[in-house]
Amino acid sequence: MFDRSIKIAPSILSADFANFGQEILAVEAQGADWIHVDVMDGHFVPNLTFGPPLCAAIRPHIATVMDVHLMISPVDAYIDAFAEAGSDIITAHLEAGPHTHRTLQAIRGAGCKAGLALNPGTGIEEIEYMLDMVDLICVMSVNPGFGGQKFIHSQVEKVRKLRAMIGDRPIHIEIDGGMTPETAPLMAAAGADVLVAGSAVFKGGSVSDPAPYGENIQAIRTAAEAARA
Ligand code: DX5
Ligand code: ZN
Repeated sequence: MFDRSIKIAPSILSADFANFGQEILAVEAQGADWIHVDVMDGHFVPNLTFGPPLCAAIRPHIATVMDVHLMISPVDAYIDAFAEAGSDIITAHLEAGPHTHRTLQAIRGAGCKAGLALNPGTGIEEIEYMLDMVDLICVMSVNPGFGGQKFIHSQVEKVRKLRAMIGDRPIHIEIDGGMTPETAPLMAAAGADVLVAGSAVFKGGSVSDPAPYGENIQAIRTAAEAARA
């Protein structure tokens, strides 16, 4: 069921790479709503992470939603593999190729929810004719590639415009990059509902001491929800 309640999606980019299963269990027990998986190819973005086999390996450890963010180009040849790995949502970048419309069709055709991500420098004009094909729009509030970067404030206005453009359509607005208890309220007020957070969730905790994960998630959620009231 679609709703616009605030959802916190920890990015496992900031988790212990040697221990993804336990890390996922820990953040979900501490209140995570979705699990955000950052796939990077060293070509579309200047960093490398992991591919479909890792997604398949962690899938049984995810009780919530596997939200797969593809920072790869080209995309289309890999959609089936990420779908078979158990992705609930597959998000591709508008900037990843000339045929985003076809990419979104392929994602839904593979049985997944379709997400479309926009780099900070990309405007929302180009997505007008794809609004009936997306379940989620991801506004990058950092340049994709690395966790722990500084929030880019100009993206708040973009989200406000995007929220107006979406109207009553059941499309999530997800924010990715630099989300903290200080920045999350700005985006929640502008119309975002899914807040990805890597460094701000995993800081100070570990699988043997997961309570800070819960405190960090709660701090972001409380601040975001207050901005909605
Ligand atoms: C950046 C990734 C983000 C990243 C967010 O390319 O898409 O998901 O992990 O990290 P923080 O929350 O640390 O900015
Ligand atoms: Zn991401």
